[in-house]
Amino acid sequence: MGRTIAIANQKGGVGKTTTAVNLAAALAQLSHSVLLIDVDPQANATSGVGIDRISVRKTTYHALLLQQPLATIKTASNFGFDIVPSDRNLAGAEVELIEVADRDVVLRNAIAPVKDSYEFILLDCPPSLNLLTLNALAAADSLLVPVQCEYYALEGVSELFNTLARLRRAVNPRLKIEGLLLTMYDERTNLAPAVAADLRSFYSGLVFKTTIPRNVRLAEAPSYGKPIAYYDAKSRGAEAYFQLAEYVLATMTRFAKFRLISFSPADNSRARHSTRLSLRSWRSRFGPLA
Ligand SMILES: Nc1ncnc2c1ncn2[C@@H]1O[C@H](COP(=O)(O)OP(=O)(O)O)[C@@H](O)[C@H]1O
Ligand SMILES: [Mg+2]
Repeated sequence: MGRTIAIANQKGGVGKTTTAVNLAAALAQLSHSVLLIDVDPQANATSGVGIDRISVRKTTYHALLLQQPLATIKTASNFGFDIVPSDRNLAGAEVELIEVADRDVVLRNAIAPVKDSYEFILLDCPPSLNLLTLNALAAADSLLVPVQCEYYALEGVSELFNTLARLRRAVNPRLKIEGLLLTMYDERTNLAPAVAADLRSFYSGLVFKTTIPRNVRLAEAPSYGKPIAYYDAKSRGAEAYFQLAEYVLATMTRFAKFRLISFSPADNSRARHSTRLSLRSWRSRFGPLA
């Protein structure tokens, strides 16, 4: 049965789409069957794999609001995995879903018939905790959180985990945390290693060993409509996403036994407390940032 991973963080520009596209490509290169679902009206994952948004006929919108089967919407990318594209109309889904019965689990129901056809289903979420993101979290087996090593990173993660705790109570008690992925890591700055160290100390086992470096090739690849492995396979970015895929695969067995680390509300409030302390200590170390 496929493992559905929601790639979410309500902050924009932290590397969600970059991670979704490149993890999909790397898993496919390692001979795994992958479906990438673009759940963001901005449709960056769609254009990032070279699909022209204008030419797309059916999108995630059709699955969520017109009950069309994903199997008839998905299309093959040129990179060994399938994609359910998105376009701007998906923004309307946010409002229209409010009227729908069981509005939190529409995506989960849409995925159910194809869940056995793929080993991995990756969900690229929009940059907010809206109904589309909630649908993705309700449909997912696990949550992968890209985190940019910057000043407010910890606050965002803490807010996301509060949502996760609520969601576990309400619609998806089995939702696991796949991991926190440090993205756009720049070891030349003082701040990145400090934030990384704090994240690792608060969320220890939850932070992936693999860190994604800031790499200009990763930023260029989408404008060519290619995952990094097809744009510059020798780049540090390509190497990092390949490593991430191997790590995700290595945790498969653990995951199958449901031993992947869970996160309790108590841990979260401890982290929040420490976060405030550490924000103070950052201020004294680095001064006010804004
Ligand atoms: N590791 C990285 N190094 C350099 N640029 C990156 C990296 N990851 C993402 N980017 C760039 O940063 C911007 C935001 O990334 P994106 O994946 O679109 O974030 P999100 O989906 O969270 O909004 C994009 O222009 C992307 O190409
Ligand atoms: Mg995005």
